[in-house]
Amino acid sequence: GTDGTYDYIVVGGGTSGLVVAKRLSEDPKVSVLVLEAGGSLENNANVTNPLGYGLAFGTEIDYAYQTVEQKYAGGKPQTLRAGKGLGGTSTINGLAYTRAESNQIDLWEKMGNEGWNWKNLLPYYVKSEHLDVPNAERLEGGKMTFDAAVHGKEGPLKTGWLYGTTNSTLGATLNTTFAAMGVPWNADANDGSMAGYTVYPSTVDQDLNIREDAARAYYFPIRESAKNLKVMLNTEARRLTWKTAAGNGTAGAAQTAEGVEIMTQDGKTMVMKAKKEVILSAGALVSPLLLEKSGVGNKAILAAAGIKSVVDLPTVGENLQDQANNGLKFGIANNFTETDKNAYVAYPTAEQVFGKDNVAAVAAKVKAALPGYAQQVASVNGNVTKAADLEKFFNMQYDLIFDEAQPNPIAEVLLYQQGGVWDSEYWGLLPFSRGNLHVTAANASTTSATGAKINPNFFMLGWDVTQQVGAANFIRRMYGTAPFKDVVGPEDTPGLKTVPADADEKAMGDWLKQNYRSNFHPVGTAAMMPREVGGVVDSQLKVYGTANVRVVDASILPFQVCGHLVSTLYAVSERASDLIKASAKA
Ligand code: FDA
Repeated sequence: GTDGTYDYIVVGGGTSGLVVAKRLSEDPKVSVLVLEAGGSLENNANVTNPLGYGLAFGTEIDYAYQTVEQKYAGGKPQTLRAGKGLGGTSTINGLAYTRAESNQIDLWEKMGNEGWNWKNLLPYYVKSEHLDVPNAERLEGGKMTFDAAVHGKEGPLKTGWLYGTTNSTLGATLNTTFAAMGVPWNADANDGSMAGYTVYPSTVDQDLNIREDAARAYYFPIRESAKNLKVMLNTEARRLTWKTAAGNGTAGAAQTAEGVEIMTQDGKTMVMKAKKEVILSAGALVSPLLLEKSGVGNKAILAAAGIKSVVDLPTVGENLQDQANNGLKFGIANNFTETDKNAYVAYPTAEQVFGKDNVAAVAAKVKAALPGYAQQVASVNGNVTKAADLEKFFNMQYDLIFDEAQPNPIAEVLLYQQGGVWDSEYWGLLPFSRGNLHVTAANASTTSATGAKINPNFFMLGWDVTQQVGAANFIRRMYGTAPFKDVVGPEDTPGLKTVPADADEKAMGDWLKQNYRSNFHPVGTAAMMPREVGGVVDSQLKVYGTANVRVVDASILPFQVCGHLVSTLYAVSERASDLIKASAKA
């Protein structure tokens, strides 16, 4: 390591990167370097405070990337938040620990990624986790339940429940209310079936009452002992350097990365070398840009940015999937005087959102629209993914939404007290819109908010609006359903004057498009799929056309998941680490 050469270089000391770094460094014969653009956040109170959600926004540890104007959704640009510092976005997120639907992980395998299914991933969710079970009084008071069989007890990542739920009547009130709306209690939303009302765990160290982020879980405990693991903070990876100069290799032969060009805090540029592999873990909004800056991507886009093509892989940066987040607020009736800092959550299915009598008609309309959606997505990406392939994937996504045996939830509905009102933040879980992000200049920094052109295409397709409006109407019904309705005052936002109770999809949709934000769940920009249908990495997470470059972070998820992302990213990174170790042995 002292000569700047390591076996593995991990770019990005975030949620995923620190898992890979820890696991690879378990072999003392292997040297690992982590390059992290930010600093240590160990003592940053905006990070550690488990009830401090939002405090870090707009500070120096929030990249706050800006999208282009969203032409299908109110015309404004949007802010995409991501954490800058050791631990990455896990240091600024909302701490929610919810996984995915088992059949949506199974889909990864069905679309051509051998070995990526729920059965294989569940042991890695368990491996990463250390669920600290609260005492009986807290469990009872907070209506917290779980299935021990699907949780880990010995993993690095502490999970548990935030303090604040004990002695509240709200949990029970909501349980009865949701039951009356046909949304059953789900005793554990982390067992692969998410639909229902649930009290989910958080990534929190309950003993210390502080946030459990990736650095606290995967790095701080080993920083003294792991002599073969080096972390360079405040160091920006600029691009990969190649052993075989572009064009000099045999036509079609895989390119081998030599290392990573970095810029240190004091502005020095140098190359760190990798004997074995480079692993990109800079997040879904950066890893594809680093590939492009290194010559891996769409030739035309690279040429326009003045970058020489090394591997022609036109889908780098495509397939961007985020969700849109909206809020509805209602007054709190005078008879409710409890303070309860917890957020309650429901994951309703399409049938629960649209009603038993209407869901078939909604489904038929979506089904009929799929070929058009596929064509529109293909045309906005210049047909680098083919409409016929997209249509196949959209049919798979449709099946998840409207499946009779295991329908995926279509919205996450949160409810909490804030600022003297009931606040219901929510997001449609499975939009069809796909966007992209690309470099604009060879030397653009990936760590600035303006280094790339980012376009999520929020609300581009009809279902995305239908789903979001359906969830808004579901929330209005929830506020009108007993017994919760007895502690609810008048609607505050949008308010019935702005959007009347009988508003149609267009009227509610127009309001939502003016008042949404990103849900900060971007995935898919270096998607794991067969190359011929639009993949950027194979099922070993290796970048097509390269011999030794992998991506391990949210970029590789081929589809959005219904849970929050970190639980799944920890599991994916754990499994990826085993794949990398196995390939080194072979
Ligand atoms: P991540 O962003 O963690 O890591 C990337 C790392 O690379 C960062 O440390 C970054 O500094 C570094 N980097 C970037 N460019 C670099 C360069 N050029 N050189 C060197 N380093 C570079 N999820 C969840 O499960 N529960 C929740 O409650 C929430 N809530 C939430 C709220 C908010 C506000 C946000 C923004 C996100 C969430 N999420 C969430 C999402 C979740 O936190 C997120 O998807 C993951 O942490 C992303 O992990 P990655 O490993 O993909 O990237």
